[in-house]
Amino acid sequence: MEIESTPLQDPGSGEIQVQVKACGINFADISVRLGLYAAAKNLYPLCPGLEFSGMVAQTGPGVEEFQPGDRVFGVSRFGAYSTVVNTVSDHLWHLPENWDFSRGAAFPVAYLTAYYALHHVGHLHPDDRVLVHSAAGGVGTALLHLLRANGNLSAGVVGRHEKVPYAREAGASLVIDKEKQQLWEAAEQWSPEGYDLILDANGASTLKASYNHLTPGGRLLIYGFASMFSPTGKKNYLKLMWYYFKTPRFNPFHLTGTNRTVSGFNLIYLFDKKTFFREIMERLLRLDRENKLPEMPLKSYPFEEVAAAHKALESGKTVGKLVLLT
Ligand SMILES: NC(=O)c1ccc[n+]([C@@H]2O[C@H](COP(=O)([O-])OP(=O)(O)OC[C@H]3O[C@@H](n4cnc5c(N)ncnc54)[C@H](OP(=O)(O)O)[C@@H]3O)[C@@H](O)[C@H]2O)c1
Repeated sequence: MEIESTPLQDPGSGEIQVQVKACGINFADISVRLGLYAAAKNLYPLCPGLEFSGMVAQTGPGVEEFQPGDRVFGVSRFGAYSTVVNTVSDHLWHLPENWDFSRGAAFPVAYLTAYYALHHVGHLHPDDRVLVHSAAGGVGTALLHLLRANGNLSAGVVGRHEKVPYAREAGASLVIDKEKQQLWEAAEQWSPEGYDLILDANGASTLKASYNHLTPGGRLLIYGFASMFSPTGKKNYLKLMWYYFKTPRFNPFHLTGTNRTVSGFNLIYLFDKKTFFREIMERLLRLDRENKLPEMPLKSYPFEEVAAAHKALESGKTVGKLVLLT
């Protein structure tokens, strides 16, 4: 990645120009950087970044909801690793008074993803037993917060021992530590009848076993493929190919015979469904006002140290969210 200066465009009709104070880092940004993100195909050279917070600098014609000086946060279909962003009001929200810019920048992607996964795709019921992989990460923590808010019992799986207290703090009823425990033995011991909902963004490393641990009526939600990546910062073609072929294909006869559902989604392809984003965010902000969403663990990096932040996320060692401060 390189930091470049580009001419500033005035906000167009219906647009708001935001002076960015912080931007959130997502695993998808790594995929974008490596040229592996399908939604970014043909967009290179590309400024990555899916979420930001900052101050409204100026507004274009027709904007009434926002005024210069307002503190805001928002999502963008790429381009958030910038000091200035022009966006539309449907993808922008006022920052709650008690939030700082880091919290605002780290909030939308993880919580919109988690809410959509649980309530829209997963049809979560308060009695459901849920298993969350990578439970101490950005989306994982948001999932655990929302599950606790909904009264669900959940097993949170983490890849490293030092993440255990984070998953517990976020609300996991049981934390499975893959470094010290055999994942599926521990999962079976806690819930011998299986899981009603399993959230898996690992891909090939766990998908097949996740599927095999669903209850009748259980749903497997696939929303990422992190295990295909390598911690070197580069594409490992051999690993990518191997994991691609190892990724299970689900048999319709088996699905019907065992009453299982397998769903996949990527929020980026729903970006134009503006009312949908607004509705989910309203529910999330209500939960926050009711004090049901604790703060996510955050680590911030100066904007210029974006490469270090990517390295940290690729290492698989991080907890919560990483943000860049401009
Ligand atoms: N579909 C969507 O709309 C959507 C939206 C947002 C995020 N996502 C996906 O959700 C997942 C989590 O995203 P996030 O931004 O919140 O990241 P994150 O969970 O904070 O970090 C990724 C975690 O994945 C696990 N992991 C497994 N294999 C890995 C590998 N080979 N290299 C690095 N990490 C590996 C690690 O946790 P453990 O070792 O503890 O498991 C790591 O901490 C990603 O797969 C992302 O692409 C999807």
